[in-house]
Amino acid sequence: METEKKIQTAAEQMTDMDLSEQIKKVTKESHVRAENTELMLSFQKGQVTLPQFKLLLCSLYEIYQALEEALDSNSNHPGVAPIYFPAELARLDALEKDLEFFYGRDWREKIVVPAATKRYCHRLRQIGKENPEFLIAHAYTRYLGDLSGGQVLGRIAQKSMGLKSSEGLSFFAFPGVSSPNLFKQLYRSRMNSVELTEEERNGVLEEAVRAFELNIQVFDDLQKMLRATESKLQNSSTHSEPLKTLQIP
Ligand code: HEM
Repeated sequence: METEKKIQTAAEQMTDMDLSEQIKKVTKESHVRAENTELMLSFQKGQVTLPQFKLLLCSLYEIYQALEEALDSNSNHPGVAPIYFPAELARLDALEKDLEFFYGRDWREKIVVPAATKRYCHRLRQIGKENPEFLIAHAYTRYLGDLSGGQVLGRIAQKSMGLKSSEGLSFFAFPGVSSPNLFKQLYRSRMNSVELTEEERNGVLEEAVRAFELNIQVFDDLQKMLRATESKLQNSSTHSEPLKTLQIP
């Protein structure tokens, strides 16, 4: 596989680097691609819409459910224990609150996710069973991302959707983390303390690139879903199709 080769070459050139530096380096290109997806660009331009945000929350809910279940069930694994911070980082309860705010009490029945989200969750469950140390890569990709660009995105989302308070935006708030920068430093040092064979380390680096790719695919699929709903709605106004088949989640 192309990625595997690239990672191996990169790993050979960075033998003196810590895991946290290596992982940042190998995912640099992927980060740029993630930032430039249509969905992330909408955020950055302050143009995120309510349907966009609600659909994103649905997918994040499924993703964090799979991620946090895998982390919880491997919390004593030597590859997971040092980076296991449920009190500070867990997002599932916050996402449930936000979904209830936007969808109402029966939000569970309204969750809609694209195929890419299902693939991402499947991968998380698979490595939870087969290679728990690869969870470092996924936890890094999501949580450190949430603690970095995610902080700005929360404020932008509030403005874009004209929300009066931060209600519905608990996902972006980390009440257990007083300084995101200091926490990121601690997290990196914990990542660096995990003992990995060379093969495992390469596996983690490869998994981080995959984690970014899975996120990008989710963002792209969400946009496709939104476009499909919009065009159905447009057709319905000209062809008077029954509305119940056209519900926006
Ligand atoms: C770090 C911005 C999307 C994952 C960062 C940093 C910024 C940033 C400013 C801090 C860089 C540093 O400290 O050197 C953004 C913006 C985004 C975005 C504006 C989109 C609007 C994403 C996405 C992911 C992600 C979609 C993954 C799914 C990460 C990770 C880090 C990070 C893992 C930590 C890097 C490290 O210190 O090793 N991001 N980001 N970001 N971001 Fe993003």
